[in-house]
Amino acid sequence: MLTPAAASSRLLGRDDEIRCLDGLIDAARDGCGGAIVLRGEAGIGKSALLEHVREKASGFRVLTASGSEFETELPFAALHQLCLPLLDRLTELPPGRRAALEVAFGLDSDRPITQTAERASAPPP
Ligand SMILES: Nc1ncnc2c1ncn2[C@@H]1O[C@H](COP(=O)(O)OP(=O)(O)OP(=O)(O)O)[C@@H](O)[C@H]1O
Ligand SMILES: [Mg+2]
Repeated sequence: MLTPAAASSRLLGRDDEIRCLDGLIDAARDGCGGAIVLRGEAGIGKSALLEHVREKASGFRVLTASGSEFETELPFAALHQLCLPLLDRLTELPPGRRAALEVAFGLDSDRPITQTAERASAPPP
């Protein structure tokens, strides 16, 4: 596994980004989840930074999803890719969030998606 210093020397000029990504992983180890959007021109180094995150995330379960044009019409396509391996833990979620995922995955066809999305955005009971 690369140390942060090794990653920094491999990825030239990315010290700030690596520090930020490392901070996200360290916070997650302390139980504080977060999110970062990496965006930039083709070839700028997004995947290289993600590879650094993967190397840094030892002990974590790493899930990935890829966007593809043919899926743009499919609701929750990326969510399906990400959460499918985790569905066996659905019962561990608070009721509102569990209901949202059940609808998104077609496990609760009685409930309209919009109603469930409203419930999911409300604070957990
Ligand atoms: N900061 C960097 N220092 C050294 N090499 C780099 C750096 N950033 C990227 N590279 C190298 O440049 C090439 C392109 O990087 P990468 O594939 O990560 O770009 P990308 O932003 O994911 O591109 P795309 O948008 O096409 O997916 C790779 O070979 C990668 O190792
Ligand atoms: Mg890439």
